Amino acid sequence: MSPQKIIIDTDPGIDDSMAIFFALSSPELEVIGLTTVFGNVHVDLAAINALRLLEIAGRTDIPVAKGAANSLVGDYGDPPAFIHGDDGQGNVHLPPPTGKPVDQSSAQFIIEQVMAAPGEITLVPIGPLTNIALALRLEPRIAQNVKQIVLMGGNALVPGNSTPAAEANIKDDPEAADVVFGAGWPVTMVGLDVTTKASISDEQLQLYAQSSSPMAQHIARITPFYMEFSKRVNGVGGLLVHDSTAVAYLLLPDAFTTQSWPVRVETQGMSRGKTWPRVRPNHRATYWNDRPNVNVCVDIDSARTIALELSRVAPT
Ligand code: BDR
Ligand code: CA
Repeated sequence: MSPQKIIIDTDPGIDDSMAIFFALSSPELEVIGLTTVFGNVHVDLAAINALRLLEIAGRTDIPVAKGAANSLVGDYGDPPAFIHGDDGQGNVHLPPPTGKPVDQSSAQFIIEQVMAAPGEITLVPIGPLTNIALALRLEPRIAQNVKQIVLMGGNALVPGNSTPAAEANIKDDPEAADVVFGAGWPVTMVGLDVTTKASISDEQLQLYAQSSSPMAQHIARITPFYMEFSKRVNGVGGLLVHDSTAVAYLLLPDAFTTQSWPVRVETQGMSRGKTWPRVRPNHRATYWNDRPNVNVCVDIDSARTIALELSRVAPT
């Protein structure tokens, strides 16, 4: 079977870097581009980091596009340097990349690729959903021509991480997320319901350090910063691989339990960014009227997904 073509829309980011390397190390997937967005870092740095990661992976053949610097409705504030470092790479301060982003914006790149290969391209957004909403706005026909969207973001039945209500990627652009969940294309939501169950321990991280692969070596360098945050703030004994879990869904869908629910995103007040699934069809509120179902991940066999990630990126 030919590999599944994917575009990763990303704000790298430490767990983004892990997800990108996981995808690049998986023969079932063909990464045809990295599109970048603000989020863990400002978008200029996101594009620089994407180029650096591809150079580390020896995959400078893959194009990088630079996308949205701000959400649909407002200026982006300060990135969360306490999670990913000032450089988005755990403060290891890599040398500048030699390559450059393509001349198209992320949204233009997505449109061109999707329309050139109808039904073939899977979008894997692992940052705020601004580029995806902008692409839809510029070319609504991508909704019928994309294969599927598998996104990391949201929280259906569990609390948020950016606020008590909201997950970070959705919180950074709730208006864009509401557009994406409502566009009528096949969307799988890989949110905190499953990603907070997928963590890598100190012992497992050692496998990266022991591997001679440049990708594994890079992960070993950048993850101590994120591990420290994970333990101190999340109170979990390991590092949550949020973004890799979306890649894992593409490779091992049967490791996930899903529910089919329409999803709305709260855009107001203290719950801004909360993803609300209509979990009971007889709920009388009208917010979900005419909204398509989303494939929402609610449980995961994380031992399987983590084992696969380690075996691909840090083979022993
Ligand atoms: C998401 O937020 C970012 O910090 C991570 O890269 C991930 O995409 C988790 O909530
Ligand atoms: Ca991310």
